[in-house]
Order: sequence, then C-alpha cells, then structure tokens
Amino acid sequence: MHPMLTIAVKAARRAGNIINRSARDLDLLTVTAKGPKDFVSEVDREAERTIVETLHATYPAHAILAEEGTSRDKNVDAEYLWIIDPLDGTTNFLHGFPQYCVSIALSHKGVITQGVIYDPVRNDLFTATRGRGAYLNDRRIRVSRRQHLRDCLIGTGFPFRDGSFLDTYLQMMRTMITHTAGLRRPGAAALDLAYVAAGSYDGFFEVGLNPWDVAAGSLLILEAGGLIGDLTGEGDFLHGGQVIAANPKIFSQMVQALSPFHSALERDKAAALAKD
Ligand code: IPD
Ligand code: CA
Ligand code: CA
Repeated sequence: MHPMLTIAVKAARRAGNIINRSARDLDLLTVTAKGPKDFVSEVDREAERTIVETLHATYPAHAILAEEGTSRDKNVDAEYLWIIDPLDGTTNFLHGFPQYCVSIALSHKGVITQGVIYDPVRNDLFTATRGRGAYLNDRRIRVSRRQHLRDCLIGTGFPFRDGSFLDTYLQMMRTMITHTAGLRRPGAAALDLAYVAAGSYDGFFEVGLNPWDVAAGSLLILEAGGLIGDLTGEGDFLHGGQVIAANPKIFSQMVQALSPFHSALERDKAAALAKD
C-alpha cells in the first residue's frame, strides 16, 4: 500500500472507532444545528480532530479542508491538501440508521491521488491510489458492466437542506425513475460513490454536494474504470456540487438524460445566492 494511503487508512479507522463507540449511546450525544436540517455532534468533531492529528503526525505541512472546519492552512491551493468528511451521513448516524462513513482524500497539485472511504458499521474499507486500482478490503473492485440505463440500479441523494434545487431535482428524479430499474437514497453520498466503484450501483447522481462528499469517491470510481463529472459530463464536479458517476456506457446515458437540467440548476443556484 502507498505510504500516504496507509496513513489515511489509519486515520479513517481511528475515526471509525470513535463513531462505533458513540453509536452505542446516541442518547448521550450533544447535537447542535449548523443550519436548517444540518446537525453536527461531538462525534463529527472528535472524529475530525483524530483524523487531522493522525495525518499531521506524519505530514505536518499538509493543508486540510475538512467539513467541520479544522483548517491548519486555509490555502486550498497548497501542494498537498487533505479533503475530509469525518462522518458522512450524520442524519443517519444520529437516528441510529446504519449507513454512514468516513471519507478522506489527498489532493496533490489539484489532482486526487489517494482516497479512503471507511464504513465502520460493516467494517468495509474502500481504498484507491491513483494509477493503482480501487479496492474493497483486499479485493480489487470494478464498476458494473450494465449497458442500458433501463436495467440499472441508480443511487441518489435528495437536496433536503434548503429548497433551492428541489423543484428541478424532482423533475430529474422523475426522469431517472422512468428510465431506470430502480432508484435508492441511503443517505451518505461518499458511500454511494464507493458503491458505484464496487459495481453495487450502476450509477449515481446528486446536486448540492461539497468537495468532502465527493473527493475520495471520485478517485475510487476512476480507478474502478468508471467516469465522474457534473451534469454536462465535463464540468468541475468537485467544487460545482453536481455529480454524475457511473460505468462509461451508463455515464453517457445519464448525461444525456440529466444534462437538460444543468441550466435550470445554475439558475436555482444564482437565485439562492442573490437571496443570501
Ligand atoms: C450529507 C450526506 C447526504 C447528502 C448530503 C450530504 P453529511 O453529508 O452525504 O447523503 O445527500 O448532500 O451533505 O452532512 O451527512 O456529512
Ligand atoms: Ca457529507
Ligand atoms: Ca459530514
């Protein structure tokens, strides 16, 4: 295993232990609201602190972009940048719904080179190093081989926090329900992306995501032979919020089905920013 991936795995497992321990006593947790339907618990913060400490013990100069705000170096253009979601699927976690994960990626000069997604409930470790394939535990994983969207199981996430994208999203959802074999919304975007890499889903789409939801999963997908992009297939999926991911054949069919909604989503975004 690449030495940088080894450190990321160590950090993810430590965070997973914290999450598992707290999952036994959810009633004792202190939970605060960061925004509408956006909660953070001491578990998110403690997991993030542990991850950052573990990474910095070996790589003290590396920059950090982490959801709960631990940022030693705000310069996101730093040569090495770790992009971290310490607990993806917080709403599930807080309700005892067993679908959440830790997501850690390393970006080197703007390219994701290492990725770890760890599901502490199942003890499933998804890893990838750029150019060396994607793995679930010690087994190589690949995207599915399905060729037709109508046969596909597709994952998604709802834009549940604010209403900006909801109307457009509901039209996208209608399109996908109509054109696929099934749609799923488990509630942890990073794990959804890992499932595309492992071939459990044939594809995934969501709008309103953040870089820490997407970074590690994007490398897993590429290393598993899949494609990832925004709704047009070609834009900045890491920072733009929109994601389509799938095997190459299904990717182009999803882009065809969903790209007509791209401009409506851009308008929704501009309207939301104008309101702020
Ligand atoms: C959320 C989950 C969810 C997705 C949201 C994310 P969080 O992350 O990944 O599936 O629909 O867009 O924000 O807040 O639980 O880390
Ligand atoms: Ca997240
Ligand atoms: Ca999170």
